[in-house]
Amino acid sequence: MRTQVGIVGAGPAGLVLGELLARAGIEAVIVERHDRPYIEERIRAGVIEHWAAALLDELGLGARLRREGLAHHGIELRFAGRGHRIDFPSLTGGKEVVVYGQHEVVKDVVAARLAADRPLLFEVSDTRVEGIETDRPVIRFVHEGEEVELSCDFITGCDGFHGICRPAIPAGVLTAYDRVYPFGWLGILAEAPPSSEELIYAWSERGFALASMRSPTITRLYVQCPPDDDVAAWSDDRIWDELHRRLAAPGFSLTEGPVLQKSITAMRSFVVEPMRHGRLFLAGDAAHIVPPTGAKGMNLALADVLVLSRALEAFYQDGGTAGLDTYSDTCLRRIWKAQRFSWWMTSMLHLFEDDSAFDRRRQLAELDYVTSSTAAATALAENYVGLPFD
Ligand code: FAD
Ligand code: PHB
Repeated sequence: MRTQVGIVGAGPAGLVLGELLARAGIEAVIVERHDRPYIEERIRAGVIEHWAAALLDELGLGARLRREGLAHHGIELRFAGRGHRIDFPSLTGGKEVVVYGQHEVVKDVVAARLAADRPLLFEVSDTRVEGIETDRPVIRFVHEGEEVELSCDFITGCDGFHGICRPAIPAGVLTAYDRVYPFGWLGILAEAPPSSEELIYAWSERGFALASMRSPTITRLYVQCPPDDDVAAWSDDRIWDELHRRLAAPGFSLTEGPVLQKSITAMRSFVVEPMRHGRLFLAGDAAHIVPPTGAKGMNLALADVLVLSRALEAFYQDGGTAGLDTYSDTCLRRIWKAQRFSWWMTSMLHLFEDDSAFDRRRQLAELDYVTSSTAAATALAENYVGLPFD
């Protein structure tokens, strides 16, 4: 088999890259380890930045997002028993975000790709990348019992944090920057109408909580928990009790409903540099991870592949490699700003084991400042809706 761009992984990065390349007339084959229902049902991120929603529109992938997604014009920061709203449009020149599950984006792109008969192979195993330092790299894998050799001009590693592409880069090439947080998030999906029209990020003496949503009838809720906690230790009653306590505010009532799904996510910040070696380009979680507090994970994955698609387009137009050569630096500038923002939101809102009374007071002063100073609120809002692309 032969293609121009071989894409490992059908997450948001790989799938959207496939559509961007198709629009530019560049052939690609996507190979995915899991089956279609698995990737379409895996609950992960939920907030889509302003420019990313516009990009999906531009690619003809935004119809359901605009119909079923929820446009949000602000968030609430709740602390010391009171809520404070950060208004996005007035602070960012009219921008907003869309709350729409990552798996819904995945469903929309998979449907479009299969309808257009563009290659997307599910349930591949034994994926390996070879010859990345040559101009004819190869992806080898097993599909439907057959060993396949896919010869490519370029390979893109869109295979997430635990993928095989990043480890295929020879030792000594990459520098990794890593921070592991001493907590995780227990997340639930519940059949209950959202208790508030907007997301609530809550600081509390008992630790962080977040009230989000997926639709007018489904809520998504999170509580900070120990990083290695067992989901089995969290009965539904215990979760609701914690949520009630952490989100408490006068006049607020948390709507409960049957818990449909429960999981724990560890939190870390991670970046490798550079994001390219030879003809292998890393994009999305394969190259970087953020704690979810800033809602940046999927958005960063989309930003990487937009930059990469432009570079590949220029290469196929006139053989120019300038975009490919600057791919890593261009992406890393945005990534490090998103890392900083995600770390800052995380540090401001969570309870750290070794927090002193001083640290907790400082967090409250920071929240007070962010919600009372237009300059500080603008800094939060412009990062949350997504920094502009240049
Ligand atoms: P992924 O979505 O991880 O996609 C990679 C794909 O590659 C997967 O489908 C995988 O099966 C496939 N793959 C892996 N190895 C191979 C192989 N060897 N061969 C073929 N295919 C392979 N972000 C937020 O902003 N908010 C959240 O609430 C949030 N929750 C999260 C919860 C969890 C449990 C996780 C893991 C992440 C969460 N994130 C969240 C982060 C966000 O979901 C990711 O940043 C986003 O999925 C990145 O997209 P991606 O395409 O780079 O990687
Ligand atoms: C979500 O809805 O899953 C969500 C929203 C905002 C975040 C993280 C997760 O910061």
